[in-house]
Amino acid sequence: MIVTFIGHGYVGLVTAAVFADLGNEVHVVGHTPEKIENLKKGIIPIFEPGLTEMVKRNIESQRLFFSLDYSSVSSSDVVFIAVGTPPQKTGDAELETVYEVAKEVAKSLKGGYTVVVTKSTVPPGTNKKIARIIDENKPTDAEFDIASAPEFLREGTAINDTLNPDRVVIGTESDKAQQILVSLHDSLLKGSESGQGQLVTTNLETAELIKYASNSFLATKISFSNAIAKLSELCGADGLKVLEGIGLDRRVGKDFLSPGVGYGGSCFPKDVKALVSIAADYGYDFTLLDQVEGINSQAKRDVVRKARGMLGELHEKSVTLLGLAFKPNTDDMRDAPSIDIAALLRKEGARIKVYDPEALENAKKVIKDVEFSTDLYEAVKGADLVIIITEWNEFKEADLSKIKSLMKSPNIIDGRNIYNPQEVKDLGFTYIGVGR
Ligand code: UDX
Repeated sequence: MIVTFIGHGYVGLVTAAVFADLGNEVHVVGHTPEKIENLKKGIIPIFEPGLTEMVKRNIESQRLFFSLDYSSVSSSDVVFIAVGTPPQKTGDAELETVYEVAKEVAKSLKGGYTVVVTKSTVPPGTNKKIARIIDENKPTDAEFDIASAPEFLREGTAINDTLNPDRVVIGTESDKAQQILVSLHDSLLKGSESGQGQLVTTNLETAELIKYASNSFLATKISFSNAIAKLSELCGADGLKVLEGIGLDRRVGKDFLSPGVGYGGSCFPKDVKALVSIAADYGYDFTLLDQVEGINSQAKRDVVRKARGMLGELHEKSVTLLGLAFKPNTDDMRDAPSIDIAALLRKEGARIKVYDPEALENAKKVIKDVEFSTDLYEAVKGADLVIIITEWNEFKEADLSKIKSLMKSPNIIDGRNIYNPQEVKDLGFTYIGVGR
């Protein structure tokens, strides 16, 4: 098929590259000339394992094209809208860009039939509005149907997630659009490693809500884990065993039960807030999700409370944060817990050094008044305390004896439980994990 993607963020670029790899002709449209010029050369604006190779491979085999204009829309079977929907102050998703893109798509349609699919995360009702916008702006001889196909890929494992989906959700009121989209996604479902990929076909509002409900449920699992970890610390239970104990029940499942310094990223914080706001619009007070957010904030404050417990006054103490990205294998700093934790530590007067294998450049834009280090061992030199914020492999494999010899006082807060507490204590560190 001929497919156009509007947007080249984590969702647009990864999905476009995967569809090209599966043999489709894929066009990606962006609006920043420099980014598009780079993409044409295979230089991608994000760090995502395996993506550069996949993009280059498909540029070379002339299946993947990048453009600043919408000219490919008129010849496309399917057009995906995959632009960002960042949160507004109210928590609502910002939908202006989605609507502007819909208008541009409409104006670029020519005679014939096109399926316009929203991949961006949008509240229930948005796709119906997109359909109205397209209807009002398209040429009279152009036919189209609208569909919602939310994306569930995770940063850091985005290619594998796209190639091996647990489910593909297609929401549309049109049988013709459904057939075309099922056929486009068919090889993903059939070829998925687990062979377990399921197709969910439904109406627009259901597909739209599945995405918010899915992310909010996962965020709830993490906040539940952080609450159990906290209680375990207070009552002397081994929180990780408790969570393992509940996760082995298949009704619960063992994934997403790792307590830590709180969830971050471009989806969970934004989508939990948005779902609270969507619910409020319909007169429903989603207090459960208020608590999910509250526990997440507390997980970040808890890191600072533990630091105070170890060092007493934090004023003029040297604290090193290892890991800044919201999770490993990404350079994404959006809503990363490190931002709030650094700010809280600064407020208490601590001197902060930070290191991350990939996210330093992005971090410089959002974390102020800290010293950025480009080397792990340089970062821990003279520190009173090291805090593990992100569970990068580089930290798991680090030479802890060397770290100890470089630090002023050997204190570790392991915000991601990456070390064996006994081994670290045997090396002479004072160690605190999460829920242990
Ligand atoms: C998430 C969803 O998983 C994905 O389906 C959706 O499409 C986009 O949002 P992503 O934000 O890329 O993906 O990362 P994810 O791996 O889900 O992690 C999100 C945050 O939760 C990270 O900050 C991570 O550290 C945290 N987390 C995750 C925990 O604290 N504990 C866990 O057990 C799992």
